[in-house]
Amino acid sequence: MRALAKGSVVAVIGGGAMGRGIAQVAASSGHEVRIFDTRPDAAADAVDAIGKVFATLVGKGRMDAAQAGPARERLRAVASLAELKDAALAVEAIVENLEAKRRLFAELEGIVDAGCILATNTSSISVTAIAAGLRHPERLVGMHFFNPVPLMALVEVVSGLATDREVAATVYATAQDWGKDPVHAKSSPGFIVNRVARPFYAEALRLLQENAADAPTLDAVMRDCGGFRMGPFELMDLIGHDVNFSVTQSVHAAYFGDQRFTPSVLQQEMVNAGFLGRKSGRGFYRYGEDAPQAVA
Ligand code: NAI
Repeated sequence: MRALAKGSVVAVIGGGAMGRGIAQVAASSGHEVRIFDTRPDAAADAVDAIGKVFATLVGKGRMDAAQAGPARERLRAVASLAELKDAALAVEAIVENLEAKRRLFAELEGIVDAGCILATNTSSISVTAIAAGLRHPERLVGMHFFNPVPLMALVEVVSGLATDREVAATVYATAQDWGKDPVHAKSSPGFIVNRVARPFYAEALRLLQENAADAPTLDAVMRDCGGFRMGPFELMDLIGHDVNFSVTQSVHAAYFGDQRFTPSVLQQEMVNAGFLGRKSGRGFYRYGEDAPQAVA
């Protein structure tokens, strides 16, 4: 199966942490990229931020200036979904909520051409459920990137019950073309990585609540002795507690309340407080100009 043609339009819906990363990778791989976000200025901010990333990469000698200029030119913020009409692939990276995703794809289906592939970057919601209700559920597939997108090679290509094999194969080939290492997965709660990772977060949160050790100590143990690239608390801060908590809730609900996946009350309080991690400046650590500081 062939990857999407270079120069074809990739729409990215949601200009947050993930949408930015996906847009950066797609533009670097030769696609025209259109970013839409419901939050005013978010799409334009995303384009600016990606332009700065390109400039930094050029400054560090990790990207050719001759590639960075055209890649930046291929990025455009749009103010309405209607402007995504020419997309060959539309990747959704909005809030982790089934109804919001369903509404978005139902609207998109009325705008894009019949051949446009609809992809969701959901971390945990059933791809089958997101596609249900579409006129053509067979063209919807999961394209699950990991944070930070430009650095993380894995992409889970997730098929729901209705997903067309050729659609999944095209997305797989496209991910490879974008320099990623894709893997096919069936739509089951949490897919592969987020399913396996739930106990990593859950047990770390339980240890913290039981005062076994503080977050920096637990992180250091898992990172320096356990061989993980990041400890559980710094990783949750990177992912965002809102996103991470939603994923746990979604996996818990999908397994009919199985206690193994019970969400953490502590993490719920973090979300209630707006302590979402890096993106809000505070999670288990504080983020400012200096290195992250543990919250006392
Ligand atoms: P984020 O909160 O940084 O960004 C989400 C963006 O979507 C915001 O800018 C928001 O204004 C926009 N948005 C919300 N509803 C919208 C709508 N109806 N139409 C257009 N834009 C809308 O979230 P993040 O971290 O980028 O996550 C987005 C998606 O990616 C979620 O489904 C999440 O589960 C998934 N994901 C997140 C990962 C992470 O580590 N944060 C990893 C892999 C997947």
